[in-house]
Amino acid sequence: MWVAFFLACGGQSALDLPFQQIEPYSATLLANPVRGVATTDASVVVDVEDQWRWIHPDGEVERLFPWTGTIRGAAQVGTDRFVLVDRVTVVRGNTAVDALLSDVLPGEPESLCSDGDAVWIQTDQGVVLWRAGVLAELRVDGRPMPGPAACGGSLYGERVAWLAEGELLHAFAGNGAAWAVFETTAFADPVDSVAVDGTGWAWVTSAGALHARTSDGWREVVLEVEALEVFGGRGSAGVWVTTTDGLRWVDAERIIVPTGPSLEGAESGGLQTDAVGRLTVSDTAGVHQVAIDRPLWLDGPLEGAVVAEPVLVSLSATAPEEVTGLRLQLRGGADPLDLPLSEGAAVFDPQGLPPGPYVLRAEATYADRTTVVERNVEVLPAGSITWTAHVQSIHEGSCAVCHTGSTETVLDGPEAWEASIAGILDNVESGAMPLGGPSLAPGDIALIRAWRDGGFTR
Ligand code: HEC
Repeated sequence: MWVAFFLACGGQSALDLPFQQIEPYSATLLANPVRGVATTDASVVVDVEDQWRWIHPDGEVERLFPWTGTIRGAAQVGTDRFVLVDRVTVVRGNTAVDALLSDVLPGEPESLCSDGDAVWIQTDQGVVLWRAGVLAELRVDGRPMPGPAACGGSLYGERVAWLAEGELLHAFAGNGAAWAVFETTAFADPVDSVAVDGTGWAWVTSAGALHARTSDGWREVVLEVEALEVFGGRGSAGVWVTTTDGLRWVDAERIIVPTGPSLEGAESGGLQTDAVGRLTVSDTAGVHQVAIDRPLWLDGPLEGAVVAEPVLVSLSATAPEEVTGLRLQLRGGADPLDLPLSEGAAVFDPQGLPPGPYVLRAEATYADRTTVVERNVEVLPAGSITWTAHVQSIHEGSCAVCHTGSTETVLDGPEAWEASIAGILDNVESGAMPLGGPSLAPGDIALIRAWRDGGFTR
């Protein structure tokens, strides 16, 4: 299941897309000039009048006192909020809970990125992963990863982070504390910047060219101007690209030259995007957010994920005050199934659904348009999971090599797995097993749990 190393050269197939002029959606968040601005998945953090302010997605402005300093990065995991000035401060409520974090980083922190339960901290000496208060440095054959890096990607249903090392771009896949290289691509020139979009694919700028990873491998996107830096988000339909001739928005079908007053000066560095790819721009009039097509954020199973047990799906619209309708549907069965939303969230329960491919489709309706986000998922309810069809391959691929006789814990077939299931789940969820190897993918762990819930069908 793990592709250790696969090489592909960037730029074999080029794609020419039509240019379009577009007036983007734009909102002013704060009518104050700020010294520093950063975005998390959904919030914006600024330093204004010598005080940090945390602007929540619903527009509420929370004052974080008495911290000050030009903010360069921000991230949030649960109730822990990370703010990067020259050091990284972790704030819970209005209290700094980890003032020493920066002392144990391998170098000077340069940027932050969060995906679910982890924060990726890029330093000038390598990339480290913070999870549940524990730091781990990401290395390949002992080499630290100099970056740039982008987290929140997915590749064939695996959760990945993209980390560059000169001409190489590594996709690290993982779960829990253990991450390992899943795919490596060699470009002709060093990778200058990397970003993800909502399908989890990576975008790269390298020597003035823009490259996009798709299901068919890498392709070059022809912009006709030099691409400098790319910015995206893990729920974003496309990416923003700074070029020698201004900003571009690029998605699967379009290259857009966005026009609009708040994009003046937006190329001057320090651009920030949130999870849905909204660009945050600050100027002397305040902090503005700009988006193409009013994106919609779907937090739930990743593209290509296996759904074997109930998952929470939540939706947030870019301009909630303008939304006239929000709906979540499951398509692929006989009739589309509406999942009733409560405060923008619904539980997607695969139990009782025929197994197979489905599309999870979210729709936000505005007066003049509808935004749609789709995720392809594979439904495998507990009762349809068997040892032979699903669990045996995990056992053979990741465990059998050590657990067939030579260890104390003998796991040699479905009976042994059934007898040790609690310990197996503890060990694979914590990342302790497979010993010394990459953690099992979240989808595989969900499969094991669902096999147990379905009564250990052989
Ligand atoms: C590289 C060898 C290796 C691999 C691969 C491996 N294990 Fe282990 N595992 C060990 C060793 C060594 C121990 C400790 C001795 C023992 O309990 O057998 C262990 C212990 C365990 C234990 C008992 C832990 C405890 O708390 O007592 C469980 C359960 C387990 N492994 C499950 C798995 C599962 C499931 C996989 C596959 C996803 C796996 N292991 C893959 C080597 C491995």
